[in-house]
Parts: sequence; C-alpha cells; structure tokens
Amino acid sequence: MLLKLFNLLPLLITTLLTTTLQSTTATPTDPTINNFSKRSASTVLNAVTTISTQLITLNNTVTAYPGGIEGSLTALQIQAETIQLEVDLKTAIIAAKQSANFTDEESLSVAQAFVALEPTIASTLTTLVSRKKDFDDGLLGVASLSFLVEWDLQQLSFLSSQLGKAVLEKLSATYAALAPLVLDQISAAFASAIAAYK
Ligand SMILES: *[C@@H]1O[C@H](CO)[C@@H](O)[C@H](O)[C@H]1NC(C)=O
Ligand SMILES: *[C@@H]1O[C@H](CO)[C@@H](O)[C@H](O)[C@H]1NC(C)=O
Ligand SMILES: *[C@@H]1O[C@H](CO)[C@@H](O)[C@H](O)[C@H]1NC(C)=O
Repeated sequence: MLLKLFNLLPLLITTLLTTTLQSTTATPTDPTINNFSKRSASTVLNAVTTISTQLITLNNTVTAYPGGIEGSLTALQIQAETIQLEVDLKTAIIAAKQSANFTDEESLSVAQAFVALEPTIASTLTTLVSRKKDFDDGLLGVASLSFLVEWDLQQLSFLSSQLGKAVLEKLSATYAALAPLVLDQISAAFASAIAAYK
C-alpha cells in the first residue's frame, strides 16, 4: 500500500503543480456568467455566498487532513478546493465590476455579506496555519507542500483585495466610507497567514 502510494508521488506532485499553474493563468470565461444585463447586487451577493460555502468546505477538508503519506489524496483535494475558491473569487470580481452602482439598500446587504464573510475567512486561515507542520512534510518528507500553500495564500489574498476594490467602487457613499474597516481586517488576516508560511 505504502509502496504503491510512493510510486504515485511524482504524478501527485506534477498534478498539484499543473493545477496550480493553470489556476493562475486561467481567466474566468464561464459562458453561464456572461449575461452582462443581469449583473447586479444580487449577483454579487450570490457570489459571496458561494465563496463562503467554499471556504467552509476547504476549512473542513484542511481540518480532516491527516498529513503524511496517507494524507496525499486529501492534499490533492485541498488543492482542488483552493483552486475552486480562486475561481469563485474571480467570478465575484467580474460580477462586482459589471454591476451597476449599488443603491443604499443594496450597499447595506453587500456590506453585511462582507462583514459575515470576514470571520469565515479568518477561521479558514487559522486552520491552514495550524496545520503548517503537516504541510511542511506533506509528502513523506519527499516534498514540502508548504510552498504550495503559501503560493495559494498569495493568490487568494490578491483576489480578495481585487474583490474588495471592485465592490467598494459600487457602494453608496456611507458604506464606501465604512467598507475599508472590514476589507483591512481581511487583508490583515491574509498577511498574517502568509507570514506564518514564510
Ligand atoms: C440574459 O438576461 C436577460 C435579461 O434578464 C434574459 O432575458 C436573457 O434570457 C439572459 N440570457 C441568458 C443567456 O441567460
Ligand atoms: C457610480 O459611483 C461612482 C462613485 O462611487 C461615480 O463616480 C460614478 O459616476 C457612478 N456611476 C454611475 C453610472 O452612476
Ligand atoms: C474551521 O475549522 C475549525 C476546526 O479546525 C473550526 O473550529 C471552525 O469553526 C471552522 N470554521 C468555519 C468557518 O467553518
């Protein structure tokens, strides 16, 4: 069993790397999200809900990660779920950019969605940081997965700040003035997680 998994390692590493590289070069061109006329606050809200759900999924998988050789398949799953999260963030960025300016009421809902999202992000990052030792010798000491996690965190951090900017531009004045409070909390959470992986 162990030997069999060991033979799979090169494939595993290649798959992890390829999927990561693809995720950074891919542009979201899902034809189902190309209906420009339907962009609105509700599209953004749905996209934020999707991000939140995906964060919880990822958090659960990382929590269940056993590390070591027996964790190899879970490591692949973590990578796949991270890539999906990046796709979800890109979808939300597009939705926000293509939306009309939010009304006061819409701005309130979107602001509330971000306030609710922040602890979910922070919690998932805390879980990722708490498992760093397991990622360090992720593949039987053959390869560390931590460089990959750090890379993912950089991507997620960048995409989150892009989403924050895109949403900020659509908020009405009152909420636009308050939004940096929560957006700064989100980027601080990423900064400290990335620092833990350096
Ligand atoms: C795009 O949105 C318009 C207006 O809501 C709708 O009539 C149309 O069917 C949509 N097109 C697609 C491809 O979903
Ligand atoms: C949207 O809001 C920004 C300010 O946040 C303003 O500069 C811009 O003109 C507005 N766009 C429309 C179409 O009202
Ligand atoms: C993430 O997982 C931890 C356990 O590792 C749990 O305590 C926390 O509530 C979870 N957070 C979310 C947002 O599901």
